[in-house]
Amino acid sequence: VINRVLTGDTPTGPLHLGHWVGSLKNRLVLQQSYDCYFLIANIHAFTTKCYTPLDIRANVLAILADYLAVGLDPEKCTIFLQSDIPAIAELTIFLSMELNFSRLTRNPTLKTEIRDKNLGNNYPLGFLLYPLGQAADILCFRPTVIPVGEDQLPHLEMAKELAIKFNHKYGQKIYLPEGEALFPLFTPLLSDTKRLIGLGPPNAEGKLLKMSKSLNNAIYLHDNADLIRSKIMHMYTDPLRIKASDKGNIDQNPLWIFHKVFNPDTKWVEQASFDYANGAIGDVICKKRLVDVVVDLLAPIAKKRLDYTKNPDYLISILRKGQIKANMIANQTLMYIKEALAQHF
Ligand code: TRP
Repeated sequence: VINRVLTGDTPTGPLHLGHWVGSLKNRLVLQQSYDCYFLIANIHAFTTKCYTPLDIRANVLAILADYLAVGLDPEKCTIFLQSDIPAIAELTIFLSMELNFSRLTRNPTLKTEIRDKNLGNNYPLGFLLYPLGQAADILCFRPTVIPVGEDQLPHLEMAKELAIKFNHKYGQKIYLPEGEALFPLFTPLLSDTKRLIGLGPPNAEGKLLKMSKSLNNAIYLHDNADLIRSKIMHMYTDPLRIKASDKGNIDQNPLWIFHKVFNPDTKWVEQASFDYANGAIGDVICKKRLVDVVVDLLAPIAKKRLDYTKNPDYLISILRKGQIKANMIANQTLMYIKEALAQHF
């Protein structure tokens, strides 16, 4: 059995620190020993952004530059575009026959998105179909490992149900290489930091919100040192702490959450957070430390990224290469499916 990894990003914006800790770091390790497929889900972006296709196009290239800048290596992994893989669209239709309509409308991730983006009843059919499209993204590649953020688990659950159903109904009807299932079981891989919070204050229920473009609370991988400094110096900390001698809250405080995730100097973090909780250290010094940490992490990435963005032809050549390799696998899967459904003539 081949250990294949598949995951994807929707090009609705460039990648930020949340993507870095939640997913990209994992992928750097995975690409060393697994056959990795990283899909840029441009068709998914159309489900909410169909009026601004040029933005989607720009974000595809932005994400690709982000990938390469953090160290995803096209010699070691396959990076490709969802719309370059016709088998995904075909499989989406076949899968749609196996799924009850109301099962889609109950999908918690969809429901959250409809609420958070204020879509009401005002979304296209394609939007409802997108979890199914995501199942097709996955199943086309017959992967065993899927690195994702927590919010994606309902989609993976649905993909798994479809895989089991297909295997059960049709798995015996086709000839597969020894030991292979039509759709192998896959496991979601969550990172240690499941969900990075953003720079802003909590919502009305007192909950810190996740880092996201739409909430305008993100540090992007391409932010320069000045912008990082300004974002961090203005970030939300403990609103009840007016002066350095006030006792501070470190648990619900992005400043300390960030230090714990990103600062390699764990000794300093331990001591300084203790001092902060006891009113013995100022905000500014701790924020400046965090600026240094984040700038050290992102400066080399931003520099490489700039070189890549100057060379869109190179970026596109990576997609062309990925397209060829990804289609070989996806077309093979589609042939199995058609054979299983007795529609391969
Ligand atoms: N929906 C995912 C997101 O917005 C992106 C995605 C598309 C994906 N297809 C996928 C993730 C397949 C994992 C597997 O983050």
